[in-house]
Amino acid sequence: MFHFLILIGYRATGKTTLARMLGERLQLEAVDADLLIEQKAGRTIAEIFAEQGELAFRDVESQVIAELLLGEPCVVATGGGLPMRPENRVLLQRAGRVVWLKASPETILQRMFGDPETERMRPPLTNLPPLAEIERVLNERTPIYRETADLEVDTDNVPLPEMAERIATWFRETGPRQ
Ligand code: S3P
Repeated sequence: MFHFLILIGYRATGKTTLARMLGERLQLEAVDADLLIEQKAGRTIAEIFAEQGELAFRDVESQVIAELLLGEPCVVATGGGLPMRPENRVLLQRAGRVVWLKASPETILQRMFGDPETERMRPPLTNLPPLAEIERVLNERTPIYRETADLEVDTDNVPLPEMAERIATWFRETGPRQ
């Protein structure tokens, strides 16, 4: 029986903050997979991208999630690109319940550039200008997020504490994946 609660979705959709709120409500540890990657690599995500490239980052990302999901159940905030590898998706779905946090490209842009962590943790993914990049990558990822998730939550207009309440209730009611 595995009972992780895993948050997926594009950059800056509130995964880290919500994971913390959900951890408190469910009395589970909240873990940010991106921070584990930085610890394991001994450098920032921006440095990994700049020095070793995105592929190397994706390899560490896959290792970190595989190790994490072998441990004690917790609430996990994943990096926005993590579900793109099919093997990662299988691990997420087996480990527990997966929630997809959705937001419009405009909201994402606003939150990304209002977040001081962006420079360290969110290097560009394309050569496109920021809004065009978000639209393009979100478009590519949307079917994957949808296919991976057990629950979809719109984050544009709902305050975070209310969202945390809703997700915590749903998680308690659905029970563990057997
Ligand atoms: C990425 C999202 C980031 C981080 C890295 C790559 C992506 O995490 O893993 O910059 O490809 O969307 P957040 O979703 O926490 O911003």
